[in-house]
Amino acid sequence: MRLNMPISERERSVPADQRLVSATDTRGIITYCNDLFVEVSGYSREELIGSPHNLVRHPHMPAAVYAHMWEYLQAGKSWMGIVQNRCKNGDHYWVSAYVTPILDGGRVVGYESVRMRATPEQVRRAQALYARLNRGQPAAPLSEKLGVLARFLLLPVLAAVLGPALWLAGHAGAGIALLALLGLGQALVTMAFVKRAMLKVAMAAPKAFPASWWRAPTPTTAARWRVCSWR
Ligand SMILES: Cc1cc2nc3c(=O)[nH]c(=O)nc-3n(C[C@H](O)[C@H](O)[C@H](O)COP(=O)(O)O)c2cc1C
Repeated sequence: MRLNMPISERERSVPADQRLVSATDTRGIITYCNDLFVEVSGYSREELIGSPHNLVRHPHMPAAVYAHMWEYLQAGKSWMGIVQNRCKNGDHYWVSAYVTPILDGGRVVGYESVRMRATPEQVRRAQALYARLNRGQPAAPLSEKLGVLARFLLLPVLAAVLGPALWLAGHAGAGIALLALLGLGQALVTMAFVKRAMLKVAMAAPKAFPASWWRAPTPTTAARWRVCSWR
């Protein structure tokens, strides 16, 4: 793992409406970069072309992120992720990267990465996740896993225990009513979860969905999401 130092805490801005593009051969050696990639990196084109792509690696990026990326690419699949890169002078920038294999006659001859500026929300979540990975902790905290488990198991378990218990105690009507109520509650919780998951997909790739299909959450809803563990 290459350690590029020093680093500053300064963030370099990436224009919102432009893309940083680079391509590599199958070993990750840079074969192409567009002008914006060159400019933001702080390196000259001559320094970049022919160098391994980890030239721009930021030391805060967990090794697991790149292992995941290479696993996808080598399986012939595209990979998307939030990446922090280091500039030549130690500054950094955050991008949302889309990396794909380049095919020639069905054979992989290299890879290409197209990057756009990451949103503050993407950066916040990536920073939290990468800090966990760098500390050797699992990607999702236990509280988050328990939250997901509770959301999908709490009501069915209550229904399974209390419904028959009421029935056996001679309150069959109440048992059935409770089962129906908890079933309805679970359906509403699941619908809210699915709706939110779909909204997040739309927010991550807004241009892929017609604007009429979805509406971004209000600032209050977005803030509530941030407080909740179920992201
Ligand atoms: C097309 C392509 C683009 C890449 N872009 C970056 C990048 O922007 N930043 C980066 O650190 N690594 C990038 N990589 C991954 C590097 O090749 C390397 O795996 C990574 O920097 C980890 O380096 P390490 O092997 O020293 O840990 C890219 C790889 C490919 C194939």
